[in-house]
Formats: sequence, structure tokens, C-alpha cells
Amino acid sequence: MKLLVTGASGLYGSKLAELAVARQYQVYAFHNEHKAAYGIPVQVDISDERKVDAAFKEAKPDVVVHAATLTDVDKCELNKELAWRVNVQGTRNVVQAAKATDAFLLFISTDYVFDGEKGCYKETDQPSPISYYAYTKLKAEECVAKSAREFCVARPSVIYGANPAAGKVNFALWLLKKLRRNEAAKVFVDQWNSPTLNSSLAEMTLEVAERRLTGIYHLSGASRVSRFDFAQRLADVFGLDKSLLVPTRMRDFSFAAKRPADSSLDTSKAAQVLKSKPLKLGDALEHLKAEFSS
Ligand SMILES: NC(=O)c1ccc[n+]([C@@H]2O[C@H](COP(=O)([O-])OP(=O)(O)OC[C@H]3O[C@@H](n4cnc5c(N)ncnc54)[C@H](OP(=O)(O)O)[C@@H]3O)[C@@H](O)[C@H]2O)c1
Repeated sequence: MKLLVTGASGLYGSKLAELAVARQYQVYAFHNEHKAAYGIPVQVDISDERKVDAAFKEAKPDVVVHAATLTDVDKCELNKELAWRVNVQGTRNVVQAAKATDAFLLFISTDYVFDGEKGCYKETDQPSPISYYAYTKLKAEECVAKSAREFCVARPSVIYGANPAAGKVNFALWLLKKLRRNEAAKVFVDQWNSPTLNSSLAEMTLEVAERRLTGIYHLSGASRVSRFDFAQRLADVFGLDKSLLVPTRMRDFSFAAKRPADSSLDTSKAAQVLKSKPLKLGDALEHLKAEFSS
């Protein structure tokens, strides 16, 4: 299988490329500012239609996993024009190029397409974005559904992993660093989601790509937790001091973009269909620990 990954320098895309290379796939690792570490690195700004077309014609992929996104939710709120150009126009360019090369398309979307009023969202629930980032991701989902020939939309939730990527650390790495230095860490008690280990997401999505499963799949961790629960469980597994965690309320902070209060996902469809199952938080954290020691 010739696999083209956009966002291959990112937290998720780098793990996917690493796994696919280990499985002997030919991997075209599209990146923008940070060179991809696994696969054949190809620098392409996805908002540049002509460059996307040319790079796809060169790679001739069988499967495209489209993960490249402006993921900074506050930046998207403050620079809507850029967010639209990368997340919507960029997706349109990728969809058209994948269609022209007859490739199967897997689009990585987000739990943030939901408003967070209810939680435990199923694939059949109605999206209702409350930030511009989430709005662009929903518009990108619609573009995929309208224009792609054969596609799947996967929605993860708060991705974390053992390594920094795309020039930044993730929540788990940030917290481990703080606790190891015996520094207090403020963590939200009023924001719930389904944290997703990047290596587990890579396994699940590669299976989707191999089996060419179509439709929408919620591919996150299997546990609904608050950020504070997550932090406590992480501290337990890594033997760190939980008393350094300071319970904090999201609603007492002012961000440029609104965040859903409970964007947790129901993963029962994925658990039924996939051989690589969504992981419960305890299992995922043990995997994370093993990844650090290897
Ligand atoms: N992180 C989360 O908690 C989370 C939660 C739910 C869903 N998601 C979704 O999961 C996917 C992966 O997220 P992530 O956290 O792995 O992302 P990330 O680490 O922030 O990386 C973003 C990736 O997108 C690329 N990118 C950004 N702008 C680009 C452009 N104009 N042209 C080409 N590439 C561009 C970046 O390339 P360079 O770094 O090389 O510039 C990087 O590889 C995204 O679709 C996101 O919406 C993420």
C-alpha cells in the first residue's frame, strides 16, 4: 500500500507514519514547517492547490490520511482567514487531489465538532461547533462527505503521546515535566473528554485504511474523564506526587476560543468493528509508560 499522510510531522501523523513504515508500507510524509521523521518527507503547504496536485501526482497514493490542520484553537479564533485557508481550503485541495488519483481518503476530524452540552457523543449525534476551529473542521468533514469518492471520517479527542511533535509538547508531557520538577500544575476539573494515545489512534486508523472502512468513526480512548481525573491517573501510573495538582475551573479562565465542557465520545461502534480496540485509560497509560521505557 502506498500511503500519503498529511500532517506527518504532527503528534498523530508522526506516529502513523512510524507505524506504517514499520509495516513496510511506502509512506509519503507530507509536512509544512517541521520535517517529518518517518517515511519520505515532502514539504507541501496544503493551502497551495497547485503544489498539492503536483505532489499527489508524483506520489500516486492508494490511501490518503489527511491530518494536517491548524490545531491551535485560539489562533483559529483570532485569525479566521488563516484557519479557513488551511483547514477548509486545504482539505478541499487534498480531497480533489485524492479523487484525481483515485485514492481512499481518511480524514481526521475532532470531538470539538460537538458543543459539549451532553457528552458521550455517538457518530449519529448532530455536530454543533462552538469555536471557529471546530466550525472549520465540520466544514472540512462536509467537504469530504460531499466530494470524496471513498472516505472515512475519524474523530479523536485530546491526543497525547510520548514525544513532542510539530514543535510543541502535549498535555501528558507538559504535566509529567511539571510533576517531575515538583512544580504545582493547575488542571481543569470542569472539562471532560476521551483522551487518545497517539499510538493507539495510529493502530486504529491504519486498520481503517487497510480495510477501507467507510463512514464516521469515533476513534478515541474508551474512557470519559475530566482533565483532572486524567492528571491524577497519569501521576499514579508514573509514581508522581498528586498533591501538586491544583483543581482549577475552565470557566474562570478567558480564552479567545470557547471549549466544549464535555466532548467525550462513545466508542462502541469502533469497539465492535475494529480488531484494534479503543483503549481504557488505565491500559493506555500503561502503554505510554512502556513507550517511554523503550
Ligand atoms: N491534538 C488534539 O488534541 C486533537 C484532538 C482531536 C482531534 N485532533 C485532530 O487530529 C489531527 C492531528 O492533530 P495533531 O495534534 O497531531 O496535530 P499537530 O501536532 O498540531 O500537527 C499539525 C500538523 O499539521 C501540519 N500543518 C499545519 N498547517 C499546515 C499547512 N498549511 N500545510 C501543511 N501542513 C500543515 C503541521 O505541519 P508542520 O508542523 O510541519 O508545519 C503538522 O504536521 C488534526 O486533524 C486535529 O484536528 C487533534
